[in-house]
Amino acid sequence: MLIKISKSNQLNENSVTDENIYHSRRKAIKQMGFMGAGALLASSFSNQAQAGFFDDEPETFKTTKLNFTSDNNKELIKTPEKKIISHNNFYEFGTNKTDPQEKAQQFNTNPWQLTLSGECDNPHTLDYDDLTKAFPLEERIYRMRCVEAWSMVIPWIGFPLASLIKKAAPNSKAKYVAFETLYDPKQMPGQASRRVGGGVKYPYVEGLRIDEAMNPLTLMSVGLYGKTLPPQNGAPIRLVVPWKYGFKSIKSIVGIKFLTHQPPTTWNILAPKEYGFYANVNPEVSHPRWSQASERRITTGGLFARNRIATLPFNGYGEEVASLYKNLNLKNHF
Ligand code: MTE
Repeated sequence: MLIKISKSNQLNENSVTDENIYHSRRKAIKQMGFMGAGALLASSFSNQAQAGFFDDEPETFKTTKLNFTSDNNKELIKTPEKKIISHNNFYEFGTNKTDPQEKAQQFNTNPWQLTLSGECDNPHTLDYDDLTKAFPLEERIYRMRCVEAWSMVIPWIGFPLASLIKKAAPNSKAKYVAFETLYDPKQMPGQASRRVGGGVKYPYVEGLRIDEAMNPLTLMSVGLYGKTLPPQNGAPIRLVVPWKYGFKSIKSIVGIKFLTHQPPTTWNILAPKEYGFYANVNPEVSHPRWSQASERRITTGGLFARNRIATLPFNGYGEEVASLYKNLNLKNHF
């Protein structure tokens, strides 16, 4: 399928080929002997396959499809759901990639309260039901790049953070937005033990400049693959900032505060020489332990998995966000 998308944020179910469909489609085309000249055929085959596949998908959320034009020339392959929910960083539940899925299943996310406060005219609190009902939900298929040099392609469900911010009506003094994860050592073993929690100071905190927070790409996610977020991915609500390293995308958020000054952030507190406030994906600025020039895209592997790929500046979202940093030296402000 040859599809062109006008903007890289406008990837949706229609513009991204599911991995299973991709493989079965390639196989079918190959069997028919059309591998070289099969673009047109591939397109119609894929459309049929996608329609059937997604009819079978359980839909917990009512999602709003994004507008796109269908002339993209690259195929993004979604990371399978089972990988997205079993290879996680959520240190509140342990530092191994499998710990969050193993240890977070009893995590109670209802009732939940998310409070907006600080420099704003309408401080308010959202309850659990509000998280999925207060704003129209959208599906956004984003690349997710971890500073550890692995990446995924994830179909998030959520709403723009800008919608929530507009409702809170920040005043002219609000220059930054601070985020805070739940602090509940009884539920989160990593908060109860420094050893389990990797020495991180809890609660986990993050921050954005207000113009970054208002960017249309910045998402509050309440689900993935058409269903509510599993606890290991940050239920019931998390941030997704696709042009920044994954550690900015703070999970299980209870507080959002508008500030005059730049807030402290968890990884910067722990190792300021390794993790900056901005954390924009940048192949030219390497982390002391991980070159950022390339990344391992997590797929099912196999014949078609060319999974070592070059890292793109701003994780491929430069068109939408590079202008935010035109006056900033990105090597100093990593
Ligand atoms: N948020 C909290 N509260 N605690 C964490 O340990 N890890 C971060 C981020 N958000 C983390 C967090 C890191 S390092 C990454 S790469 C992403 O979550 C991983 O998200 P995922 O597990 O859904 O892939």
